[in-house]
Amino acid sequence: MARSRKSVEPTRPFLKWAGGKRRLLDQLRPYYPQQFGRYHEPFVGSAAVFFDLVPQRASLADTNERLIRTYRGIRDDVEDVISLLASYPHDKEFFLQMRKANIDEQADVQVAAWFIYLNKTAFNGLYRVNRGNRFNVPFGAYARPAICVPDLLRTCGRRLKNVRLEVADFATTARRARRGDLVYFDPPYVPLSATSSFTSYTRHGFDMAAQRRLHDVTVELKARGVHVLLSNSSAPAVYEIYGDGFECIEVTARRAISASHRGRGIVKELLIR
Ligand SMILES: C[S@@+](CC[C@H](N)C(=O)[O-])C[C@H]1O[C@@H](n2cnc3c(N)ncnc32)[C@H](O)[C@@H]1O
Repeated sequence: MARSRKSVEPTRPFLKWAGGKRRLLDQLRPYYPQQFGRYHEPFVGSAAVFFDLVPQRASLADTNERLIRTYRGIRDDVEDVISLLASYPHDKEFFLQMRKANIDEQADVQVAAWFIYLNKTAFNGLYRVNRGNRFNVPFGAYARPAICVPDLLRTCGRRLKNVRLEVADFATTARRARRGDLVYFDPPYVPLSATSSFTSYTRHGFDMAAQRRLHDVTVELKARGVHVLLSNSSAPAVYEIYGDGFECIEVTARRAISASHRGRGIVKELLIR
């Protein structure tokens, strides 16, 4: 089997992401297998685990097309993305113009600069769209947001070289994993309570039927000898779904408690394998 990790330093994501795993990495690392073939991350978001793991061969996917096009822009033309970002002013009027742009008609470089700009300047770095797929998060009014961090973007661009990037549902990409590969699933979580849910990363939410479909895919992968790691909330439904044939490891994360509560609290989450 191929050596699974490159002998280079891990790096951090260049995007902020709701449910991002950056602060949980210390608790996830002990469960990375020593050896694996290809690494697959079908719900990639800001790719915190991918950038930490530095696998030799990887496939990353998400249903958010603009996000995947952003990774392509950073992988293929990072200097052009940096030049564009460096030319964008931080003010509300420009932000509102960017929000309205018909970005899907543009090239990956423009999409990447658009996505990163809005990620750094919108409220809480949220990505949310309306029914027409228009970005609709309000201006964050931050004093000095780090809109362009050239060295970080260049490092991420290098790590993404030769990485397969796809816009697809998790089932399509996960089923390609072979014996000995590693798949890390980080889906939108089963909500802990009716008010704590944030599952609208794209126009389509992630309901309980999707959670069960994900369980079925993980069962199929494990039966084929694929290493599987999966994150989810500690909602009773998650223990129920993964009650048979899986180990549910409790980890702790600092998260926003609910939309109506501005504070952050320690929340128990699960790492399932
Ligand atoms: C919890 S986030 C992943 C966070 C990521 N691990 C990180 O560290 O930033 C879940 C991601 O799943 C994506 N997603 C939602 N439904 C999906 C589906 N059916 N297939 C693939 N990706 C999906 C969302 O766009 C979002 O980026």
